[in-house]
Amino acid sequence: MPDKPKEIALEDRASAGEKLFSPSTARNRDPIRYVFLKTMPASGKILEIGGGTGEHAAHLAGALPEVQWHTGDPDPTSRGSIAAWIADARLANLSGPHAIDVTAKEWGVEKDAPFDGLVSINMIHIAPFAAAVGLFSGARRLLKPSGKLFLYGPFARKGVHSAPSNAAFDESLKSRDARWGVRDLEHEITPLAQKNSLTLDAVVEMPANNLSVIFRKT
Ligand SMILES: C[S@@+](CC[C@H](N)C(=O)[O-])C[C@H]1O[C@@H](n2cnc3c(N)ncnc32)[C@H](O)[C@@H]1O
Repeated sequence: MPDKPKEIALEDRASAGEKLFSPSTARNRDPIRYVFLKTMPASGKILEIGGGTGEHAAHLAGALPEVQWHTGDPDPTSRGSIAAWIADARLANLSGPHAIDVTAKEWGVEKDAPFDGLVSINMIHIAPFAAAVGLFSGARRLLKPSGKLFLYGPFARKGVHSAPSNAAFDESLKSRDARWGVRDLEHEITPLAQKNSLTLDAVVEMPANNLSVIFRKT
């Protein structure tokens, strides 16, 4: 029997043609935009990893007219949705979707590097840890000096979940795929950053026990 297609999102998404609508993005895109505008470069090139439906790209690129926003996703259905959101957004500064898998040696966007920023929203906990390893290694290769990496999602802190709901979410992720799970900022992610010449720049508490975490390339 063929394998069940791999789940890439943990929510029911409405659709219109190829365009997908993420309920979690509807809730988090304004808080993310607020923090993004305060912490990330307001001009230059930004590369989004694991763009999903494409809604964050349209929302953030629309708020950052001086930024050339590139987005992508390894999943073809997500790329179809991203393409539809890009077509409808009609933004001159939004391009993609690129078929980027961060665990690959080459991402296919090397010709556009170096980037001023990389962003990955709700990706590293819904993927094997190899995706976090690949993401930070790509940040080292593709970011300019002083370029920034923006992560958003749930994180544990020093071995402790920040809320019972995050502990339950971690269990549920692991029951779907033992390689998935809420990552620990101090024990897993900051060491990975250090190995790749990135230092922690800011940690911002977000609604629903999520964090925005910003690293800077040294
Ligand atoms: C839960 S979805 C989040 C999508 C979107 N960022 C959002 O917040 O709605 C995780 C996304 O990460 C992508 N992803 C999973 N593994 C990846 C990898 N190795 N490289 C790049 N993206 C990956 C999936 O295809 C999926 O679209």
